[in-house]
Amino acid sequence: MFTVKVPATTANMGPGFDCIGMSLDLYNTITIEEIPQGLEIIIKNPQDIEIPTDETNLIYQTIVQFYQSIGKTVPGIRLVQEDHIPCTRGLGSSAACIAAGLLIANKLAGTNYSKEKLAKLGAIMEGHPDNIVPAFLGGMVTAVLDKDELHYIKIPLPSQLSFALLVPDFPLSTEKARQVIPKSLSLEDGIYNASRTALLVASMMSGEIQHLQVAMEDRFHQPYRIPLVPHMEDIFEKALSLGAKGVFLSGAGPTLIAVIEEEMNFKKKITPFLQQLPRRWDIKIVKPSQQGAQIQEFH
Ligand code: HSE
Repeated sequence: MFTVKVPATTANMGPGFDCIGMSLDLYNTITIEEIPQGLEIIIKNPQDIEIPTDETNLIYQTIVQFYQSIGKTVPGIRLVQEDHIPCTRGLGSSAACIAAGLLIANKLAGTNYSKEKLAKLGAIMEGHPDNIVPAFLGGMVTAVLDKDELHYIKIPLPSQLSFALLVPDFPLSTEKARQVIPKSLSLEDGIYNASRTALLVASMMSGEIQHLQVAMEDRFHQPYRIPLVPHMEDIFEKALSLGAKGVFLSGAGPTLIAVIEEEMNFKKKITPFLQQLPRRWDIKIVKPSQQGAQIQEFH
């Protein structure tokens, strides 16, 4: 019996569409036990989205895919899934399931692949590396999947930064949120995003966080997703007026993230504003997860 602990992640961080992500100190844990045959899945902490407890469960599907790739048969398993990452909210819950499935399969099959190799397999499965690579490796990561090669660099973050997750009570599917993005963009918008992505990475690495507000602006996806996230612009404006260093849509949304400094009492300040909005917005302040996905063994 063993447990895997996989973090939530936020992708894009504004301009870094499909290439920048960060893991967060908020985890799902999955405990696995081999059983003589079959599949048993128990979901603890159920959310508003029903998680499948049969062969269509994403963690189990990932395990099956891994075993197929090495030409072996999946053993009987009991899987107890305790979810704390909100589902379909742009916080990498699918990437967390894929990371969990790969870690579990790697351990059960005794393949002993490195986290880097598993991250690459996960990025190929997901189609983009921005959630899955930080889910495995922790911290903020910039990643490029070039054909079958994964190039990534972990970006050191200023230690005083925390991240306020503003999570609404409505879901948004990544598929729907990708459909609204145009297939081509202007050179002007390309320059706008490339310059901000570079500034974002440099601001984090140098600790010059006064640039974050501009560095987190985006023209690739956020403007097109505004209609899918009611009050997104109002919340951004309010968060910045309360002193947030930067604001962005988390992954494909609908969660919004404000970058804050620990001592600024942001939660208390923004709560009255959130409470008068028509939808419920929960707020959770987290730090980045430094280690990323981990296995814990029971002896
Ligand atoms: N980068 C993706 C998007 C989400 O914004 O559609 C996470 O992979």
